[in-house]
Amino acid sequence: MKLAVYPGSFDPVTNGHKDIIARASRLFDEVIVLVSVNAIKHPSFTTEERVAMLRAVTTEFPNVTVDTDDGLLVDYVKKVGAAAIVKGLRAVSDFEYEFQMALANRKLYDGAETVFLTTTTENMYLSSSVVKQIASFGGDISHFVPENILEDIRKRLVKR
Ligand code: PNS
Repeated sequence: MKLAVYPGSFDPVTNGHKDIIARASRLFDEVIVLVSVNAIKHPSFTTEERVAMLRAVTTEFPNVTVDTDDGLLVDYVKKVGAAAIVKGLRAVSDFEYEFQMALANRKLYDGAETVFLTTTTENMYLSSSVVKQIASFGGDISHFVPENILEDIRKRLVKR
């Protein structure tokens, strides 16, 4: 049984994340989407809110579960016995940061491979921060996030 962990901040989950989840769910027997702590980010949504949104957008994938962890990613990966860490790559700008994390994670634990899935061209520009910026000014985010969590995001982020 091949298990993969797809970690991230998911603040909030976007169509880009959902696309990576869908593709990872076809490559692996089981996928855990893991809401983890990025020490340099200050999330807008609580961990519980991010988990709830992820659960709402992954119900269609029977082999995908959502979990949360506030420790080192490699410790979690080791604990659950995952064979892979899945990351999404958008543009070259993501590469250096992701490459650095993949190498550091391998140095800490070499029992799992980091697997990069390239985003679709239509999601290349998409990020949680772009969604938050647009939503906070009352802009239309319906093209960027799954429909069933649209209202939750709007309610929380619209300033005026
Ligand atoms: O969506 P993000 O913010 O780019 O995801 C980054 C994340 C949360 C996957 C990364 O910060 C992480 O792995 N955090 C867990 C703590 C950890 O292991 N940090 C060292 C990574 S080299």
